[in-house]
Order: sequence, then structure tokens, then C-alpha cells
Amino acid sequence: MSLAEVKESYSRCCVNPKFFDVFYANFLASHPTIAPMFAKTEMTKQKSLLRQGISMLFMHLGGNGVGTTGLNRIGESHNKKNMNIDPNLYDFWINSLVKSVKQCDEKLTPELEMEWRKTLRSGVDHIVSFYSA
Ligand code: HEM
Repeated sequence: MSLAEVKESYSRCCVNPKFFDVFYANFLASHPTIAPMFAKTEMTKQKSLLRQGISMLFMHLGGNGVGTTGLNRIGESHNKKNMNIDPNLYDFWINSLVKSVKQCDEKLTPELEMEWRKTLRSGVDHIVSFYSA
């Protein structure tokens, strides 16, 4: 199992035009503090920004510096001084994304799910490293 298999799974998810709708439905319902944070958000735009953010995460983990620059920027916007996203909330983000993959990728196996979790955890760790910076 490697990043390549996770990216292939993600491509299968993205073929489904409802994938990011499914994700935000799962994510907003996952913890009571989350939905209010997106109360004034233009969700169509947000879905496209998240799609770009996930691409940056994969690029970063693949060693591409453009991805690292993109992920650094997300780390800064979400940090304590800016949006102040509590680092504990990223577990809900990971669980919601994996739940959405389960709903959209019919080829998902338990091993692939573990690889997804490892991959997302590495990206999240990078973002969270900017929290108090
Ligand atoms: C790996 C995880 C995440 C990624 C890749 C991500 C990505 C993004 C991106 C690309 C934006 C657009 C603004 C920008 O470019 O900085 C954004 C905005 C935002 N994110 Fe995240 N995010 C993540 C996790 C979270 C979590 C865990 C929360 C809260 C529980 C959160 C809450 C928000 C909020 C409130 C906004 C602003 C929405 C608005 O403009 O109204 N994000 N995120």
C-alpha cells in the first residue's frame, strides 16, 4: 500500500459529483462546533477550495514543493492567530473524509482505509504544526 493507491481511490471518489457534498454533510454533522463555523460560508466555493487543498496535501506528501507551499499557507490560515481551528477538530475532519470515501469508493478495503488514515494524518500533522507558530 502506498500514496499511489490512496490517490487512485481519491480519483474514483472525485468522479462522483456528490463527493464533496457528502463530505461536508458528514463533517458538519460530526461535531457541534463545526456547522456554525461554516454558517456564512459560500459552500460551492468552499468545496472547490477543499478539493485544491487535498491536491496540495497529496503533492506535499509526494515531495512536490508546490504542495508544501500550499499546505503551509493552509496551516497559516487555520492557525491560532487566524481562523484558530482547534487541532483536536482535525480528527473529525479525517473521520468525515474516510466516511465519505467509504460511501463513494466501492473498491475501498480495510487496508486501503488504513493507508488513507495514515496519509491524511501526515498532511494534518503538517497543517497543525503551524497552529501556535
Ligand atoms: C487537512 C484539513 C483541512 C484542509 C486541507 C482545509 C482546507 C481549507 C481551505 C483550502 C480553505 C480556504 C481558505 C484557505 O485557503 O485558507 C479552508 C477554509 C476553512 N476551513 Fe479548512 N481545511 C482543513 C481542515 C479544517 C478543519 C478541521 C476545520 C474546522 C473544524 C476547518 C475550518 C475551516 C473554516 C471555518 C474555513 C473558512 C470558511 C469560510 O471562508 O467561511 N478546516 N480550509
